[in-house]
Amino acid sequence: MVSVKLVNVTKVFRGGVVGVKDINLVIEHGEFMALLGPSGSGKSTTLYLIAGIYKPTRGRIFFGDKDVTKLPPRERNVGLVFQNWALYPHMKVFDNIAFPLRLRKIPESEIRKRVVSVARMLRIDGLLDRYPWQLSGGQQQRVAMARALAKEPDVLLLDEPMSNLDAVLRISVRAELKRLQRELGITTIYVTHDQAEALAMADRIALINEGSIVQIGTPSEVYGKPRTVFVGGFLGNPPMNFLEATVGYVEDKPILVIGNNKLRVPDHYEELVRKLGLNQVIVGIRPEDMGIMDKPVPYRTIRAQVYAVEPMGRETIVVAEVDGSQVKIVTSKSIVLREDQDIHLYPSFEKIVLFDPKTEKALEVLYEEEKLE
Ligand SMILES: Nc1ncnc2c1ncn2[C@@H]1O[C@H](COP(=O)(O)OP(=O)(O)O)[C@@H](O)[C@H]1O
Ligand SMILES: [Mg+2]
Repeated sequence: MVSVKLVNVTKVFRGGVVGVKDINLVIEHGEFMALLGPSGSGKSTTLYLIAGIYKPTRGRIFFGDKDVTKLPPRERNVGLVFQNWALYPHMKVFDNIAFPLRLRKIPESEIRKRVVSVARMLRIDGLLDRYPWQLSGGQQQRVAMARALAKEPDVLLLDEPMSNLDAVLRISVRAELKRLQRELGITTIYVTHDQAEALAMADRIALINEGSIVQIGTPSEVYGKPRTVFVGGFLGNPPMNFLEATVGYVEDKPILVIGNNKLRVPDHYEELVRKLGLNQVIVGIRPEDMGIMDKPVPYRTIRAQVYAVEPMGRETIVVAEVDGSQVKIVTSKSIVLREDQDIHLYPSFEKIVLFDPKTEKALEVLYEEEKLE
């Protein structure tokens, strides 16, 4: 087991396409790191750089203290599971798992021991005599995992390993994979575009957008304290709501003006709003951090009109319009609302995140960066 460190890593493909730029990332020994971002953001590129399949254009990669930047894949001892698994169709499960070990000229008796042990761990020991086409998608996925783990890799690299599984299976495999990683304590980098998967499984999440890492933190940090509008909007289902506000002053106290609504500035932002002297901000509020009231409360509520109500069983999603933009509220109560009805949204002020509309950065991030300059 080792830690993995990327230092100022950039990959420019032939033809000039930038895969990733200036990535700095440390995955601790034994950690489960999710690399989360939309399609084309550079997740697979990062993984293949770590595996050694791609060479960085600039920057260095370390496993522990060892600089592996120039090492070929086979000298890095990584286990890699691809999106499409790529099992060898003409080989039985046993031989699929054994294949990388045979390449390494490991004695056949040792191979048998390892294959049986890893197959048992993944509960596919009854399937060793079958061909891939005789397996379900979930079983094939386990074989691919077994093949990666039989090598006893220092680092496990998974590229959207569940994208071929149906939604129900994904949720059960998710828990299993998390348990397995904990039990093996193997340094793991898990690439996904599915925010729920990343939040559910990872010790920490690195969010990547357009080839750059935008935030690294524990699931609760990245969810609760997004550093940019992108992060707030990428995490959560439904994601964070954003409302444009003008900053006004009443008796020398800053307030937020959203359409015809005047809203107090959350306590933790009062000083920052003054110091940064912004005229406009974006107010970020998570759907579960807003209550619905039938009467307004001065400086506490936002007037809205009901657009649609979506009863989801365990919760209800209320889609409402505020001054021309749409917001979603998740409420646990069974609530009776008519379309176009006036309601008053009561946000939890301590949960609000304010962003600068120009840079789309949270005000605390903007302030930190201004101080550094
Ligand atoms: N082999 C390649 N040659 C040229 N461009 C590539 C290659 N692989 C990826 N890219 C480009 O690099 C960017 C990042 O791709 P990728 O890492 O595959 O994204 P993700 O895995 O997040 O969907 C994309 O713009 C993609 O088109
Ligand atoms: Mg990819």
